[in-house]
Amino acid sequence: MLRNLILVFAVCLVNPVMATSQGKDFILSTAPELEETGFLQFIMPRFSLKTGIRPRLETKAATADAFWDTEGGQPVMEGLGRSYFMRVANPNTPAGQKAQRFADWLASEIGQRTIEQFKIDEMAVFSFVQPKASPLREIVFEGDVVQGEILAFKNCARCHEIGTRNLMKGIGSTPSFGLLRGLPDWQERFMTFYLRLPHPSITQIEGITEPFDQARPPTIHPLLLTEAEVEDILTFVATVEPVDLGAPLVVYQ
Ligand code: HEC
Repeated sequence: MLRNLILVFAVCLVNPVMATSQGKDFILSTAPELEETGFLQFIMPRFSLKTGIRPRLETKAATADAFWDTEGGQPVMEGLGRSYFMRVANPNTPAGQKAQRFADWLASEIGQRTIEQFKIDEMAVFSFVQPKASPLREIVFEGDVVQGEILAFKNCARCHEIGTRNLMKGIGSTPSFGLLRGLPDWQERFMTFYLRLPHPSITQIEGITEPFDQARPPTIHPLLLTEAEVEDILTFVATVEPVDLGAPLVVYQ
């Protein structure tokens, strides 16, 4: 009993500290009805739990790091007869970077599902709005092509046949870089390779991916890369000769 009391007392002491250190990551200005419907209370903990980022919510703030309101910015969702937009004031400040992570999370598949899971009386209130589809555009990678080739041979050639140098050395069932280069959306596939099976369990990109699950360490030598190194690899891949099989391409999903 006494111990419980002490515990309660201790929590009371700690709490004010927590309260002030929380909610300082960035300021998010919101439309009033997002708060009134309980939507913010539903969605924000889900974001914070995942990222450790806690915004301070303010209704209709004059200045904020991000604005989630009925005008200005990227369309995010619709509901209650209105469209809602997200605008990050300045993504280059530390708070702005966190605000940008929130905006990206909202636009991601998980954010999208979370928006649509919010219900009042069993009815979904908001529906996700697809960000304006960007036409398949050629992106120019600006890394170091020589460095990229070295990194690709070091990290990817174990499984993938890359150029003529390790021809027939890759693992048979693994698509060669030449084959992947021949796909119309090769850029998208390579830019997100670390999210695509089988890579997530063996790949870490500094500052982008979550650390490996301690309980399930990678079973083979992991790929540890920085963002700049991925850019180098992409720059090199752009120079790989696409392989046209002459037959309909096998599309790896
Ligand atoms: C442990 C083996 C292994 C390593 C190492 C590896 N890959 Fe892969 N990769 C695979 C396999 C297997 C597939 C085919 C997956 C499928 O088709 O389901 C694949 C598919 C891909 C694809 C196509 C994915 C898609 O969904 O279209 C890309 C792009 C790719 N790998 C890039 C890379 C890059 C870049 C590296 C090095 C940084 C790399 N891989 C390292 C095994 C590997």
